Amino acid sequence: MAGRIPQHFIDDLLARVNIIDVLDGRVQKLKRTGKNYSGLCPFHKEKTPSFTANQEKQFYYCFGCGAGGNALGFLMEYDHLDFPQAVEELAKMTGMEVPREESQQNRQKQQQLKSLYDLLEKATQYYSQQLRSNPSRDQAVSYLKSRGLSGQAAKAFEIGFAPPGWDNLLTHIGDDAEHRKQLEQAGLLIHNEERNSDYDRFRNRIMFPIRDQRGRVIAFGGRVLGDDKPKYLNSPETATFHKSRELYGLYEARRHSNKLERLLIVEGYMDVVGLAQYGIHYAVATLGTATTAQHLERIFKMVPEVIFCFDGDQAGRTAAGRALSTTLPVIQDGQEARFLFLPEGEDPDSLVRKEGQEAFTKRLDEEALPLDDWFFKSQSEDIDLNSMSGRARFSSAALPAIQSMKNGILKQMMLDRVSELTGLSQDQLESVVNLHSATQTPEPAPVAESEPTTSDYPEDIGYYPEEYAVDIAYEATPAHRPQTNRSKRPSSTGARRSVELSERIISLLLHYPTLARLCELPARLEQLPEPNIALLHALATYLKSHPKATLGTLYVDWQEEPQLSSYLMTLNGITYADPVENIEQAERILQDALPKLEIRIDDLRLDELKQKLSRTAEEKAELNQLLLKRHSTISPGRSE
Ligand code: UTP
Ligand code: MN
Repeated sequence: MAGRIPQHFIDDLLARVNIIDVLDGRVQKLKRTGKNYSGLCPFHKEKTPSFTANQEKQFYYCFGCGAGGNALGFLMEYDHLDFPQAVEELAKMTGMEVPREESQQNRQKQQQLKSLYDLLEKATQYYSQQLRSNPSRDQAVSYLKSRGLSGQAAKAFEIGFAPPGWDNLLTHIGDDAEHRKQLEQAGLLIHNEERNSDYDRFRNRIMFPIRDQRGRVIAFGGRVLGDDKPKYLNSPETATFHKSRELYGLYEARRHSNKLERLLIVEGYMDVVGLAQYGIHYAVATLGTATTAQHLERIFKMVPEVIFCFDGDQAGRTAAGRALSTTLPVIQDGQEARFLFLPEGEDPDSLVRKEGQEAFTKRLDEEALPLDDWFFKSQSEDIDLNSMSGRARFSSAALPAIQSMKNGILKQMMLDRVSELTGLSQDQLESVVNLHSATQTPEPAPVAESEPTTSDYPEDIGYYPEEYAVDIAYEATPAHRPQTNRSKRPSSTGARRSVELSERIISLLLHYPTLARLCELPARLEQLPEPNIALLHALATYLKSHPKATLGTLYVDWQEEPQLSSYLMTLNGITYADPVENIEQAERILQDALPKLEIRIDDLRLDELKQKLSRTAEEKAELNQLLLKRHSTISPGRSE
């Protein structure tokens, strides 16, 4: 049934229905206990009641498994319904008819989006035409030839050329106020405030159109012809482009085969194109970011197997560690993730050109390590499992990571393996986990007002600006760090705790939506290795732009967008934090939690940079910047 369910109807419906009636018959042993009702939770096995419902708030919550929500959420979860179905069901109970409408605002938004897609498609055509006919095309063509790119591969990916000059695209599309505005919204035109002038973002670059799953061009990546920096320039985030979600080559891979069995995650545009040219049509690339949980969730919806490709150097190993912690909370039984390390100095593009399809595929089949193998290999590196202290160190590092996994056979098998390797029983291991989380209870929040980072990706600002290149030796810094219990915190094993933190923030926002105004989410948030980050981001963004929103309006507004409506299901699975007394308390908790998220993001990056054996000048500058920031964040007395 098409059309949107109007907000007032949901409000009416929720006002009219009593959650207790919905629970009655679905929750066993439901009975009144003082202000609340309690019963046996239908969402997990239990013998004593930990499920509660509050009639006044029309909310349920299970202390055992953390399930919680309103009447609609309960029906969605209990009867496995999507949102419109749950509304229909609830309406039936009250004898109401569900009205549908096409909203004016929605139609307008759709139209604006459509003209953006049209514009991006026009730009794609323009760039590919320029590769064929522009007077300065020779340099571009010979560059592509020198890289061994076939005309067929270039065509399959609609690779193009943005000619040199400041306003080629602008002139081509139409130089008037309306087009300028649209080009800017599409990320293709840059406005210079000082000179009050506009210029093409992409100039003298090889252009890679980035498509969404439906094949619409949503952004571009542009590569310089020589060795200038930045090597690649990507479109900024726009209404059509969210880089933490998109994968280059995914559309092309699916178009090539509608029965994909696996996907290969590589680093670069040229890797995807080069592999395809050599017959490997199932590679996708992240767009200048690490693989996010969103990427993986999307991939696992399509194929049961993913293979990560990494360079064989230290940077590759660091990236693989990160991919591993992103994968653990996402992967489910029946899905497989493997890790392939390439010979040093090679990337998939160079390697497949050297050894061809067959040898490369053989590597995938024979050399890619299954997730558990790579996990235990990386966890036990430099650890002597024959010594008692080695086994202790091993289990306290491995367990929290395994604990971040969804329950299932894979998780159980990994726990068994820890048992085997350490000689500890499952019960003993459990107490290690408890001990571990007890020693890691929330650290006091740093109080400094740390500025949000200005830009998130190197390519956006052409690598880090000079002024950050303060020359402090990073090795010297730990001595400056005050001995708070923060410094005891192991940094990269925090996956499980971050899950709790982001869920806690989500839960607070659901209880007190107006608090979203305080939510300055840190830049690079999506790099945190956990599945609910995308949801948190969407929720905060929505609540900020809809100050009067309620859980009801949210359900209504999100049902139509495929991405957002998939979050609705997740919302019901969120571990609801213990109910918070009042908004003041919620506000305090929130203000405490947000800086922690940012610190966590910085820590990930710091770890990564510190582990590198050698660093480029840009990386050194970045490291210094992060250390400076941490320094001022954790020693408020000294902050600038
Ligand atoms: P690499 O530097 O490994 O380059 O960047 P590459 O893919 O091997 O490129 P070629 O072969 O020299 O052409 C890997 C990916 O990181 C992102 C791009 O997505 C790139 O494909 N990147 C890199 C940027 O976004 N900006 C940059 O300046 C560099
Ligand atoms: Mn390359």
